[in-house]
Amino acid sequence: MTRAVILYWSSTGNTEKVAFALKDGLEAAGVNVSVIKTTETEDIDYFDYDLVCVGSPSIQWHPPKQVTEFLLKKFDDYRKQGKIKTGAPKVPRKNALIFCTYSGPHTGLNEATPVGKYVGQFFEHLGFTVLDEWYVLSEFHGSEERSTKGRMGDIRGKPTEEDLQKIRMDAQKLASKL
Ligand SMILES: Cc1cc2nc3c(=O)[nH]c(=O)nc-3n(C[C@H](O)[C@H](O)[C@H](O)COP(=O)(O)O)c2cc1C
Repeated sequence: MTRAVILYWSSTGNTEKVAFALKDGLEAAGVNVSVIKTTETEDIDYFDYDLVCVGSPSIQWHPPKQVTEFLLKKFDDYRKQGKIKTGAPKVPRKNALIFCTYSGPHTGLNEATPVGKYVGQFFEHLGFTVLDEWYVLSEFHGSEERSTKGRMGDIRGKPTEEDLQKIRMDAQKLASKL
């Protein structure tokens, strides 16, 4: 059976909602899915999975330390095991998906893409194929100004149920590539 793990961190719940919609969609496609917070595990081997998904909010256009510390620690372990190889040769059937929730109050999507690119590099360096990066516009909880007057307009309530349904459908399509 195809196996996936969803590793995520979330402070105000947006990334968590996306993580569980992704889980629903993958499961609907017959994938065995585990969902784990980055702060609640260290003992995980990406190579045990066909698909590793990492979800992070954008905090000052970076992933927060709860995500980077997890990724850097794992990267160090893999380096010690000799799995970071020059040229990053592809490892068959090892895939990653990166998803980032963001509010883009100042410059829009440009505040989120550095997160997706940075997180994706941890996987490409290991020889994984990054199948996609998903950027999910989400309410800036705790700031009405940034949720209504920012570059992306009125984003209150996002991700909406409709947004989450699209994620479930996109997850099913993604599963067909595994
Ligand atoms: C301290 C802080 C800094 C943030 N910085 C950014 C940012 O630089 N760019 C952006 O697009 N969103 C920023 N946001 C908004 C979050 O990325 C967005 O609301 C995200 O969906 C939160 O995810 P979560 O609910 O899973 O914690 C920031 C939010 C907080 C609380």
